[in-house]
Amino acid sequence: MRYRRGVLSRRLPQDTAPNEWTRALERRRESGARLFDLTDQNPTRQGLCDAAPALAALADPRAARYQPEARGLRSAREAVAGYYAGRGLGVEPDDIVLTSGTSEAYSHLFRVLCDPGDQVLVPSPGYPLLGPLAALDAVELAPYPLVLADRWRPDLPALERAIGPRTRAVVVVQPNHPTGSCLDEAEIAALDALCAANDVAVIADEVFGDFLWAGEASAAGPAPSLLGERRSPTFVLQGLSKLCGLPQLKLSWVALAGPAAARARARTALEWVADAYLSVGTPVQLALPALLEARHAFRARVLERVRANRDALVAALGACGARLLPAAGGWTTVVRLPEGVDAEALAIALLARDVVAHPGHFYDFEDDAHLVLSLIVQPEAFVEGAARIAAAVRER
Ligand SMILES: Cc1ncc(COP(=O)(O)O)c(C=O)c1O
Repeated sequence: MRYRRGVLSRRLPQDTAPNEWTRALERRRESGARLFDLTDQNPTRQGLCDAAPALAALADPRAARYQPEARGLRSAREAVAGYYAGRGLGVEPDDIVLTSGTSEAYSHLFRVLCDPGDQVLVPSPGYPLLGPLAALDAVELAPYPLVLADRWRPDLPALERAIGPRTRAVVVVQPNHPTGSCLDEAEIAALDALCAANDVAVIADEVFGDFLWAGEASAAGPAPSLLGERRSPTFVLQGLSKLCGLPQLKLSWVALAGPAAARARARTALEWVADAYLSVGTPVQLALPALLEARHAFRARVLERVRANRDALVAALGACGARLLPAAGGWTTVVRLPEGVDAEALAIALLARDVVAHPGHFYDFEDDAHLVLSLIVQPEAFVEGAARIAAAVRER
């Protein structure tokens, strides 16, 4: 189906027809079949969250009074600065702007950094929501490649070539969704220098930054952050959805780094945009110190779930010819399929076996030879889904 444009904007998608996989998924859902959904990334549906204390923390009588502050309440921004201080990262509460989600943070930044038609570079493979977010703000996205060698690395020469006269920012996601890859300190320094030399900002999406996997190339702990001494204007995104498993509370933030003058200009601009919406609710801002305190138990449960599901997946795939690609962290894994197995066709065949798995082209992998799976799914469903994937691969 195509929109008849009528009064509607070109920022909306021109083609809303669902693809073949989505149509097949809708048919399976309508049939009432029990699906083993290995794409679900919603922690509140996967038995990982203990929402009761968070909800109790929202019942703060101080929230009876509305005292709007464009960047967010100082007490909340101090709590965010405290979270970073605990990771050994310095940022002033004045350099933090609260938003109602990371998606809104992207949108604020696109508007602050770009004129209509300006360009932002994004990693490929990468997170598909960035396309619609950019389109809604009349920003063009262009990919820069992540290349798989011993691990996924940004192709910095290709990134440099991709920077053009209308490039305003480079997005870095780490751990990246879906590849789970991080930049090392040398890559971060090179990227910072490149962006500073070209007058381009860095948007660092670190929503999975606290979910590095033990035993991988980088030790468990937080990923290296773009926050710190930077030469280019740098905007670090993080929020409660992933950090605390509380997406329904709708609170994220932008933390600023980079040269003082650029930071001051960006702060004023972001404050102006945020003031037009005042989108973050008072109860969640007042509760933020308690919510951040409680994040450790959630993180431990997620890391244990991810470890157990990865082990189960490796065991299930066995010698079927499919293998997990190396990654450093995050909530997803990428399965490389054996030569000749088409991911889209396999994902559709899996739906007939009641398994939901994303074909890699949703994330712009170069060849259609990957499945992307969520690692936070309840173990029982994950193990059954993994066994069915292995069986389907063996039969192809
Ligand atoms: C890499 C990445 N950034 C941002 C978001 C959006 O987060 P939020 O719920 O804070 O808008 C997601 C959600 O899955 C994500 O994977």
